[in-house]
This record gives sequence, structure tokens and C-alpha cells, in this order.
Amino acid sequence: MTGPPPRPRAVAHASGAGSLPPVVLVHGAGASSDDWPAPLRALPGRRVLAVDLPGHGAAPGPAGASIAERAAAVEALLDEAGIAAAVIAGHSMGGAVALTLALERPARVAGLVLVATGARLRVAPEALALSASPEGLALAARAMADRSYGPGASDAVREARAREIAATPPGLLHADLAACDAFDVMARLGELRVPALVVCGTDDRLTPPKYAAFLAERIAGARRVLVPGAGHLVMLERPAEVAAAIAGVLGAPGAPPS
Ligand code: COA
Repeated sequence: MTGPPPRPRAVAHASGAGSLPPVVLVHGAGASSDDWPAPLRALPGRRVLAVDLPGHGAAPGPAGASIAERAAAVEALLDEAGIAAAVIAGHSMGGAVALTLALERPARVAGLVLVATGARLRVAPEALALSASPEGLALAARAMADRSYGPGASDAVREARAREIAATPPGLLHADLAACDAFDVMARLGELRVPALVVCGTDDRLTPPKYAAFLAERIAGARRVLVPGAGHLVMLERPAEVAAAIAGVLGAPGAPPS
């Protein structure tokens, strides 16, 4: 006899400890918590929760249709973990989740770290269409992986990424890309009253430095760090630099998310 399927929920992989607000790491489209390497999970004085959004990694799905649903899953995870407020760090689609939480549930967000993301995340129509079919998924994965790294990445690294995305459950990448495509908070950034760090690789072709500049200019008091030569997967390409940028801002004297 089989029971009902597990309800969709986000799960967290925890590391570190400390009395400062925890840092919650939220991955991008077609990805999982695996996108946050060890240096990002060892931030001084903080508990770090690397999230698998519903349907991703170890989390039961489905993924849901919108960024708002993904943000609600992260909020439920905060409830479950007994966390009143956290620094939300999001990569790409995860940045959209972080921005949505900060706009809709400001009391739960002690700080924002926006990594390779934007206030609007339109997706190329070809990528959206390809990702919708099982036959197209491998091609969409290949196109996405090819554009996800800076010039220093090897073909083997790009191919491994394409294989990983192509191996995700049917419909998952498409659901994520469709949610990104509908996301747009460009007109709302002025509402944010939260300390924010914006991180972007200078060679990011999916969410270019222009998107980071827009975030940093419109979010009051935001700081911006550009990582030379890195692409869209900046936290995988240059983990130590991204971790240092985050630790620098979170640990700076007088920095509010403390
Ligand atoms: N921040 C700042 N500016 C932004 C922005 C953001 N988040 N999103 C869009 N814009 C700007 C664009 O640069 C463009 O400016 P321009 O008119 O000065 O050139 C304008 O707003 C309109 O942009 P957009 O709606 O994206 O239309 P577009 O015709 O320029 O391009 C796409 C549409 C989909 C082809 C393009 O966004 C693209 O190639 N995206 C691929 C990225 C992708 O697939 N990412 C996957 C995310 S996981």
C-alpha cells in the first residue's frame, strides 16, 4: 500500500553556527543546493542553510508555477527552522526569490545577497520553448550551460553542467524558466529598506553586469561587487572571492545584518 505523495516543500542543508541571523542560500533555475560550494557554507559567526527548492535536489516537488510560490516555500522553511529573520542569498532565480521575500515579507529578511541576478529575468523564447519538451531539454541544457561560465571554464566543465541540467526531472527547468520569465520587480526596488550586496561576474551573459548595476542603483544603500572574468555561475567559478565579499559586508562594523 502506498501513502499519499509527499507535499511539495523546500529542504535545507545546514552548516555552521552563531548568534547572528542565519544565511539562507537559494539556488537558480534547474539547479540545487549543490551550487553553493564549501566556502559559501562557512560564513563566520553564522548558521548557513543551503536550500533545495521544491522539486529540486532532495526536495519533494512539484516546483510550482511562480517565483512567489518558491518564496512561500522558503518562508515555510524559515518557520520550520524557527528562524525569525535571515539574510537571504539568491543566485539568479534564487535572487528573484530573495527579492520577492524582501518585498512581501520584509520582517523575515535581515539582509539580501543578490548573486548573478536581476530585478527582471526575461528568458530567451527559444530556451523556454526547448525546455518544455523532453526532446528539447538536452538542447536547452546545453545552450544554458554554454552561456553560464566565463571564458576560463573548460569544455569539460560546461559539458558536465549541461548533463546535470539535462538529468533534472521532466518539466522542472521549464517551470523554473517560465517563473523567471514572468518575474519583474524593476519598479519596486525603491520599496526595499534592507541591507543588500549585489555580486556579478563581469562576463555574465545570462544576467549581465547591467542588471547588477540596476539593482545596486535602485536599492537604497546597496553595495556592488564585480568579479573580473567570472560568468553567471560566479559562486562556483570563484567561491572564495564571493564568500569574502559576503563575509566582508556581513561582518563590516556597523553593517546592519548583524
Ligand atoms: N535589469 C536591468 N535592465 C534590464 C533587466 C534587468 N533585470 N532586464 C531587462 N533589462 C533591460 C534590457 O537590457 C533592455 O534594455 P535596452 O532596451 O536598453 O537594450 C530592456 O530592459 C528590455 O529587456 P528585455 O525585456 O529582456 O528584452 P530584450 O528584447 O532586450 O531581450 C531576451 C529579451 C529574453 C532575448 C534577453 O533578455 C535574453 O537574451 N535573455 C537571456 C537570459 C536568459 O535566458 N536567462 C536565463 C535566466 S535563468
